[in-house]
Amino acid sequence: MSEIKKLGILTSGGDCCGLNAVIESVVRTATTKNYQVIGYKMGYDGLYNNDFIELNNENVRDIGRRGGSIIGNSNKTNLFNHYKEVNGVVTYSDDSDIAIANMKKEHVDVLIVVGGDGSMTSARDFMRKGVNVICIPKTIDNDVPYTDKSFGYSTAVFHIADALESVRTTGASHDRVMILEVMGRHAGWLALEGGLAGDADFILLPEVPYDIKKIIEELVKRYKAGFKSTVICVSEGSTPKDGEVTAVINKKYPDAIKLGGIGAKLAVQLQEELAPLTGQEVRSTNLGYIQRGGETNSVDKILSFRYGSYAVEAISKGDFGKMVSLRGEELFTVPITEVVGNGPTGETSKGGRKNVNPDSDLLRCARSMGVFLGD
Ligand code: F6P
Repeated sequence: MSEIKKLGILTSGGDCCGLNAVIESVVRTATTKNYQVIGYKMGYDGLYNNDFIELNNENVRDIGRRGGSIIGNSNKTNLFNHYKEVNGVVTYSDDSDIAIANMKKEHVDVLIVVGGDGSMTSARDFMRKGVNVICIPKTIDNDVPYTDKSFGYSTAVFHIADALESVRTTGASHDRVMILEVMGRHAGWLALEGGLAGDADFILLPEVPYDIKKIIEELVKRYKAGFKSTVICVSEGSTPKDGEVTAVINKKYPDAIKLGGIGAKLAVQLQEELAPLTGQEVRSTNLGYIQRGGETNSVDKILSFRYGSYAVEAISKGDFGKMVSLRGEELFTVPITEVVGNGPTGETSKGGRKNVNPDSDLLRCARSMGVFLGD
């Protein structure tokens, strides 16, 4: 292995709490090994434009609690199938060699990619072209396979619980059905753990398709039993039985499906059905980006520190082409190809999502505590 002198890091995909803590720990650990670090701005865009900042112990000091990423995020760029629009003309090209030439120019020996499945698919494709890469899983959705918990998730769960507490008190005053839509894409972790932590009465998840008739029956039953207000935590990826996910398609993005809107849709549907039965009003709130931002909590901060420093330790051992993974209490590395598969270069991986297991203790806990899951 040739001597390592310089690392490049980028934070790619949607942001989350803990990214700055990862950057801080990467830089602090790298400094102890005399590695220089540069941070590419705006994810893979920075690699393409050779736009970066030097990172050192001074400019990363105390950033660990701050949400977002000091080097920025982008979830629009796949350099292996690079979308460009000039005067209304759309083209796609493989611009990965430009990025590789930029890394060579700056003498970057290893690229650290902090991202989710799409970003890691690109990392895998750079690895195939001879770049030394190491990935750190990132997503509030907690759906990256081969890792028990991703950072940012705990802070997001906290925000959801907090928001549920707010909608419950106002809903109770008005005898309303209150819906809170939360993120998570096609995995229900945020809704399930956030919903449980925030005492939601109903939790709807992508893994458990709901039956609208049963939801109405249950609402009426609760109303008659004296529970005049009900709080529903719904995951953006929830679907009715035999129904479609609520989403818009934006082909500019490597992952074209943008989920959202199920809460508002459900509210209209339930309001109509409940009017003659209980007369309750139904209100919906989309928690949106509030759950993704803010101050990083201590659980996420420590987890991020661990991921970042482990990645640099792995680099010092030449353990490239891997993703840092948490299993139980310990960190390991796992081949990126295990995580995102061995599909064609340039195509964003769609496989390998970590979903809530409908037979898990967690889900059983919700059911046994009387939480209604819509089925
Ligand atoms: O994957 C993280 C996530 O926050 C999802 O839960 C959500 O669907 C998506 O990103 C939103 O992304 P954007 O920033 O593109 O709106």
